[in-house]
Amino acid sequence: MIAETHLTADDLIMPLFVRPGEKERREITSMPGNYQLSPDELVKEVVALKEAGIRATILFGIPETKDPEGTSGYAEDGIVQQAIRSIKEKVDDFVVITDVCLCEYTSHGHCGILSDQTVDNDATIEVLAKMALSHAKAGADMVAPSDMMDGRVLRIRERLDAAGFSNVPIMAYSAKYASAFYGPFRDAAESPPKFGDRKSYQMDMANSDEALREVQLDIAEGADIVMVKPALPYLDIIRRVKEEFGYPVAAYCVSGEFSMIKAAAEKGWLVEKAAALEMLMSIKRAGADLILTYWAKDAAGWLKEKNKG
Ligand code: PBG
Repeated sequence: MIAETHLTADDLIMPLFVRPGEKERREITSMPGNYQLSPDELVKEVVALKEAGIRATILFGIPETKDPEGTSGYAEDGIVQQAIRSIKEKVDDFVVITDVCLCEYTSHGHCGILSDQTVDNDATIEVLAKMALSHAKAGADMVAPSDMMDGRVLRIRERLDAAGFSNVPIMAYSAKYASAFYGPFRDAAESPPKFGDRKSYQMDMANSDEALREVQLDIAEGADIVMVKPALPYLDIIRRVKEEFGYPVAAYCVSGEFSMIKAAAEKGWLVEKAAALEMLMSIKRAGADLILTYWAKDAAGWLKEKNKG
């Protein structure tokens, strides 16, 4: 009766990875229990998520081909576009969010278009807007730009509105830090940068006021939900963003946060369920309304058990 914070399956968004093919289910070794799925297998996974009580996914694509401009990211028959259509054909009442970023689609692995080994911000946001529009056309319910370029939220908003998709909200990765905790994901999405790092567009871990400025800009440009990422090392940022803006705040409990507990649990050093639920609760308590987490399906099951008991 006196618990101040409640964690429920409604708070959780499950990230899923889609790759070309049929009946493909490739386990991601650095993220046990997560798979690169072909669209048919992805639909099965979404049905299972829905049965478990999860109502939303965020999709990441592993495309057939990559090039310097990331053109497979906005192709009408691109892998994410196909995946959205398959889910929308077969499952109702399930929220499909798409990650909008170039790193999975560029041959160099950076989150934007390069000019002389640096990312060209303005050329990139044009491509991101194309990509977001192609997702909306395929039926995406929400788009989530994760690139950290300046001005991308506004460009995407304008492009969606002009094409009649003013009802498609934007969840902006607003305060995304250049983090060591993305390591396992870069394996999962086959997206590590081929040279350099992402520190010119992702945030410095030392900064917190800057996170508020990033969030403020995204809200001014039309973001509907703002995100802080990673979650556990940045709980203070989640709390400041929630208090300052009162906007819906999403927190991304990233691959490294997941895999470190999985690994410790495999060694018998931690109890996965207890550690995961404690971590998710701390993120909620810090002020997150939504949590993107690879534990979404398992946590939904654990929470159901708990409520029965
Ligand atoms: C793409 C993107 C990344 C993640 C989500 N979207 C990786 C990155 O910036 O390197 C990380 C997610 C995770 O680690 O779980 N820009």
